[in-house]
Amino acid sequence: MTSEAGGRVVALVPAAGRGVRLGESEPKAFVTLAGTPMVRLAVDGLLSSGVVDHVVVVVPPDLIDSASACLPDGVDIVEGGAERIDSVRAGIAAAPDADIYLVHDAARALTPPSLISRVVAELRCGRAAVVPALDVTDTIKSVDILGNVTGTLKRSELRAIQTPQGFDAELLRRAYSAATPADGATDDASLVEHLGERVRTIPGDALAFKITTPLDLVLARAVIAAAEAKVQ
Ligand code: CTP
Ligand code: MG
Repeated sequence: MTSEAGGRVVALVPAAGRGVRLGESEPKAFVTLAGTPMVRLAVDGLLSSGVVDHVVVVVPPDLIDSASACLPDGVDIVEGGAERIDSVRAGIAAAPDADIYLVHDAARALTPPSLISRVVAELRCGRAAVVPALDVTDTIKSVDILGNVTGTLKRSELRAIQTPQGFDAELLRRAYSAATPADGATDDASLVEHLGERVRTIPGDALAFKITTPLDLVLARAVIAAAEAKVQ
């Protein structure tokens, strides 16, 4: 079954990272926010958007059982690889029947469902690659190996890119067939860019921030506590 005419939407959730920068004892996707693992929160957001037909979660090989214990029935769970690109590739292989792929980091656990549905709506309007984007607030400079500044990028032309990133499935499969670890890609859209294909931005959402550092974890827990205080 598909959520709308126009094809089956499969969300791939890379959750196989170790979370080195977060520095918790367990892999990041399994760290809890108000008692719920981040990967579960990310999957719940996708399912409650109402625009996702199927979810594939990619986890570390030793955490398949832990993942199945904490995820809803019907979600597929597959083993990830050493790099994010390997994990997403495993997700693509597990869902060959998709017409549209969303790729969504488990680490963006507080992403509002409305952002997910806006990405899919843009794909349904005929775009082949769609990413959420926010204005950058810091000044961004390039530096050399010694730490000397080599340039200042024009802030008005820069955007911070989030997930979910959405793609026509055939385009993402083609981008991953051409991709190598040497690309050093930190997102999926950059692999599509390497093919020379257009990637469209839509407005992102501050709540879709990636939980990367201990300070991000403090922020995520505070956001949940504030939301809970409001409903009481
Ligand atoms: N990811 C993955 N497989 C990998 C590496 C990363 O599925 N081999 C996932 C992470 O689980 C995360 C998302 O990709 O949901 C974004 O990666 P990042 O924020 O870098 O997470 P980690 O790699 O876990 O963190 P770190 O780089 O600090 O170790
Ligand atoms: Mg990483």
